[in-house]
Amino acid sequence: MLPEYFEFFVPARIAAGRGMSGSLGPEMEKLGVRRAFVVTDQVLMQLGLVQKVLDGLAGSAVEVAGIFDEVRPNSEVGLVEKGPGDLPELARVAGADVLVAIGGGSNIDTAKGMNIILSEGGHLLDYEGFGVITRPLKPLVAIPTTAGTGSEVTQFAVIKHEAIHTKLSFSSPYLAPNLAILDPELTVNLPPKLTASTGMDALTHAVETYVSTSWNPIADGLALEAIRIIGANLVEATTNGGNLEARYQMLVASTMAGMAFSSGMVGCVHAMAHAAGGLFDVPHGIANSILLPYGMEYNLEARPEKFREIARALGNDVEDQDPKAGGWTAIEAVFDLAERCGLPRALSEAGVPEEGLPTMAEAAMVDGAIFTNPRPAEYDEILAVLKKAY
Ligand SMILES: [Fe+2]
Repeated sequence: MLPEYFEFFVPARIAAGRGMSGSLGPEMEKLGVRRAFVVTDQVLMQLGLVQKVLDGLAGSAVEVAGIFDEVRPNSEVGLVEKGPGDLPELARVAGADVLVAIGGGSNIDTAKGMNIILSEGGHLLDYEGFGVITRPLKPLVAIPTTAGTGSEVTQFAVIKHEAIHTKLSFSSPYLAPNLAILDPELTVNLPPKLTASTGMDALTHAVETYVSTSWNPIADGLALEAIRIIGANLVEATTNGGNLEARYQMLVASTMAGMAFSSGMVGCVHAMAHAAGGLFDVPHGIANSILLPYGMEYNLEARPEKFREIARALGNDVEDQDPKAGGWTAIEAVFDLAERCGLPRALSEAGVPEEGLPTMAEAAMVDGAIFTNPRPAEYDEILAVLKKAY
């Protein structure tokens, strides 16, 4: 039965293709913008990837107004607000009429946060939560160099508040980028562990949104196909990084999963992963990868048929299995996928101290992601899941 009401958010224009970033100029001209302020990081600068992307502006009417290249692995409130040279002010002075984020989720989310202040003024923390931003911001172009975050098409930014060790969520349709450029050539240099962990983040988006209380049929279609593509390509992209076709498949799948969860939302796995990142700096993809099978096990009784469909999408024959048994096949397949990618399988291997689990459970209970989890979760239950994953 379809939901009585649902909303599906249709985000950015997506331009995808091998070498697509070479057409950045003409693609940006379609937005009517002229002066780009680039938000990226040192690693991508040194790899020459930023230059490769910006070469795509040659011969177009769009010029680079400035570059901020000091984003760190976790986007942070302090960096967005009072970064070196005062980040939004830097873009304002440069006369930027568009932001271009090049990189992984941190870079894109930092650019989203910066866009809030650049367009609206004030302090970033004033805009935390759902629907606080009420009018269009400056245009934002997102060019992902990882296949996982989905931030290039979502209406969310997750930014860490260092002082309280918490990951804050900012949510508004106006936060979504206006243009996403998907170019697999930008992801071929990603090391195996990052390829695997970001890919598991994308899988977690797809799985969690498919079973969430906020599910809808449009998001379901995107999520299920993303699960199928990730199941078929993640190990290859991880172990044979030069395979451009596998890279392209993963990039498209992560964007599809992003489109899905931008409306369908996520669940307890993301709530726990945000806590792990906020409290103990566990990389988002690693935390999700470890916690996903345990979150699925907790939620199995709420959505057995859907979990069996996930098993099928991951390439398993579940014809003779009842929904619950099929769901277990999905859980084992996810565990197996992470193992074949060489990722850590326990929180204890990811730098989480055992005495930190109760604090993690408390943080997960107040994270927005927990509210769309398909099975209601209390503190004791979340703590039990964390202990299992330890
Ligand atoms: Fe995520």
